[in-house]
Amino acid sequence: MGIIFIAGEIDADVWRDVLAAELPEIDFDTDFYVWPDRPTDPGDIDIALVWRPPENALSEFPGLACVINLGAGVDSILNDETYPRHVPLVRMIDPALTRHMTEFVIQRVLTFHRKFHVYDSFQRNHDWKEMRQEDTLTKRVGILGLGELGSDAARVLASIGFDVAGWSRREKTIDGVQSFFGEDAFTPFLGRTDILVCLLPLTEATRGILNADTLSQLPEGAYVINAARGGHQVEADLLAALDSGHLAGAALDVFNEEPLPASSPIWDHPKVLVTPHIASLSSPGSAAREIAANIRRIRKGEEPTDQVSLDAGY
Ligand code: GLV
Repeated sequence: MGIIFIAGEIDADVWRDVLAAELPEIDFDTDFYVWPDRPTDPGDIDIALVWRPPENALSEFPGLACVINLGAGVDSILNDETYPRHVPLVRMIDPALTRHMTEFVIQRVLTFHRKFHVYDSFQRNHDWKEMRQEDTLTKRVGILGLGELGSDAARVLASIGFDVAGWSRREKTIDGVQSFFGEDAFTPFLGRTDILVCLLPLTEATRGILNADTLSQLPEGAYVINAARGGHQVEADLLAALDSGHLAGAALDVFNEEPLPASSPIWDHPKVLVTPHIASLSSPGSAAREIAANIRRIRKGEEPTDQVSLDAGY
C-alpha cells in the first residue's frame, strides 16, 4: 500500500511531515511517493493526495481506493474525463480553510460597506472628506452557495448585523440567514442583494453564472465579490457592468486565466480590487488530522467521510 502526492505547486515535504506526525503507523520514507516518482508496481498505490493533478495521472493507479483533494474546489479533478469514477473523491473540510475564507469575505464586504477602498483613494490625494454611512442592518448581503464555506461566511456576516440571504440548490436552514433555493428563487435573490458574494462550486450549472443578464438583476450600485472560481464570471460582462455604473465595485480573487495576465484591463480598473487567488489557502497543520482519519478509515475498508458527489460535481 502506498500514498501518492500529486500536487505540483504545493510543498510535498510540509504535507509529508504533518501527515507523518498524525500517522506513525505508516512509513513515509518508503510508502509516500511524490509525483512523478511512483512505485515499480503502480498497483501498490491505494491513496492519492491531489491538487490540480495532470489529466490521466489518476487513471495510472488501478488499486486506488480513494482520492483526497488538498483544496476546497474539486472542479479540476472532475473536469478530467479519465477520472476513475468508481474511486471515492474526498473534499477538504478544514476549520482553518473555512475560517480564512470567512475572514476574506468579511474584509471585502466591510471594505465595500464602509467604502474603505474609496477612503484609500482619498488618502492618496490628501483629501479629507467624509461620505454618508449606511447602516449595517439595511445592507443586504447575498451569498451564492451555502456549502461549508458559504454557510460559515453567511452566519458570521449575519452576526455582525448584515441582512444576509443565501442562494443554493436546496433549502438551507441557517440562523439569521434567509434561504433562497432553486432556479425560480434566483431572480428575487439577486434583486434583494446589495453585495453579492460568490462561493459556489464550479460545475456545468454554475459556469458563467455572473454574466450580463444576472448582473443586471442586481440593484443599481451593487458590489460583487468572487472568491470561488474565475469560471463563474464572464469578465467582459463584469467590466461592462462596472463601466456603465450599474455595479459600484468588484473584489476578485479568481480569474478566467491565472495568473491574471499583466495586460489584463482588470488590474488597473479603478473599481476592481484584485487578489491573486489567496482568499483561503490550505493549512496542512490544521487539515492533516481529518485527512489522517480518512486514510485510517480507508485502510480499514471503511467509507471515507466528506465524499464529493461525482454527479452533482461538489
Ligand atoms: C482554492 O481555490 C481551493 O479550492 O481550495
